[in-house]
Amino acid sequence: MTVFEPVLLRRRGLDRSFDLDVYERSGGYRALRKALTSLSPQEVMDEVSASGLRGRGGAGFPTGRKWSFIPTDAPVKYLAVNADESEPGTFNNRVFIDADPHALLEGILLCCYAVGIGAAYIYIRGENLAGARALERAVAQARARGYVGGKILGTAFSCEVHVFRGAGAYICGEETALLESIEGRRPQPRSRPPFPAVVGLFGRPTVINNVETLACVPDIVDRGAAWFKTIGPEAAPGPKIYCLSGHVRRPGVYEQPMGTPLRELIEEHAGGIRGGRRIGFVIPGAAASTALVESELDVPMDYDSLRKVGTELGAGGIAVMDETVCIVETLERFARFFRHESCGKCVPCREGTVWQHLVLERLASGTGDTRDVEVLRDVSQQLVGRTLCALGAFAAAPQLGALRKFPEHFAAHAAGRCPLREAMTLA
Ligand SMILES: Cc1cc2nc3c(=O)[nH]c(=O)nc-3n(C[C@H](O)[C@H](O)[C@H](O)COP(=O)(O)O)c2cc1C
Ligand code: SF4
Repeated sequence: MTVFEPVLLRRRGLDRSFDLDVYERSGGYRALRKALTSLSPQEVMDEVSASGLRGRGGAGFPTGRKWSFIPTDAPVKYLAVNADESEPGTFNNRVFIDADPHALLEGILLCCYAVGIGAAYIYIRGENLAGARALERAVAQARARGYVGGKILGTAFSCEVHVFRGAGAYICGEETALLESIEGRRPQPRSRPPFPAVVGLFGRPTVINNVETLACVPDIVDRGAAWFKTIGPEAAPGPKIYCLSGHVRRPGVYEQPMGTPLRELIEEHAGGIRGGRRIGFVIPGAAASTALVESELDVPMDYDSLRKVGTELGAGGIAVMDETVCIVETLERFARFFRHESCGKCVPCREGTVWQHLVLERLASGTGDTRDVEVLRDVSQQLVGRTLCALGAFAAAPQLGALRKFPEHFAAHAAGRCPLREAMTLA
């Protein structure tokens, strides 16, 4: 097994790791102090750009480039921190916030300094009460010690940080729905253009970044872009927190370099499949990604390598299913999730996710036929590129991928049979 010294989760085992004293004793706020006393905002932005950091929320957009889109002369700008994390099987932000809320805060302050932002909103899913409290406590501690508020560390830089609890819906994590939610409206995505970098929160230019993205920033400023680039692949450097769930012996979070092979994560870190069974299929990037089969598990877990094999990294939520799990039944659950979470603003998604679920219910229960398979294919294709936000494409991806890769399972279900159930009955 490759031994990797954790970067993002290095304080997790420390007693009271969430406390400001512990954070400071272990090098915390050193990067902020360095930036405020010896680096210009542009130098901080240049360092983040040079590091090659790409957004950990799923799309993998270069972070430095995103920051550079914000007009420098805008009098008011905001940062919205995406801590919504509502996708099943994804829990890396939650674990990070519980363990090290000050590291997120330091990343936020460095981003605000680089971009010239005076206020940040951390948007956290309402049900994650423990996370919201950890952040509120960290903000209060940081304010009392001069890291948040007016004239930070005696410099001209001032920044407020607010913790905002969302109402709890998957769509709240979509960046423009998140902005609507903070503004007190129903969380439905906005049409673009204009993009949030121009017209964002309260009509002002806004950066939106994921928790794990910002968590990488203090170490980039402290240890330098060149150090960051020594971790993981050149096109997507840095550490990554992977979440493993399902039929593995040791489910949990594992921090490894971006690009770690999926097989290594499953077999070495998570202890392999439990109960002496074999792998059935693996969902590499939570509900919006295409399942992979055993022969594909050597793929490096980074954005580009996964796209080459027709799937996505997402936020790094890996669900491992053993040989007893039926792909059609799993897809029925995904479709139920997307049907429930569609905000209903645009027709292809509002109608399409309902139809996906209806035909999958029939197929999974053995009451469907080949027309249902064709409806699933047709409706899923209509979801790609025709919706206001990416949830439509997310709902389509696992279905279209599985129709391509597991045609025999769909054919069997269309004939009222489940090959897996038959195999289990015979055994
Ligand atoms: C339906 C939907 C849900 C999303 N949920 C999240 C989320 O919970 N957290 C997140 O960081 N990004 C989420 N995203 C992606 C965000 O829209 C956005 O791309 C991301 O926060 C940008 O941050 P990054 O550049 O640091 O990755 C979601 C996107 C969609 C379409
Ligand atoms: S794609 Fe779905 S979730 Fe996104 S705006 Fe349209 S209806 Fe809402």
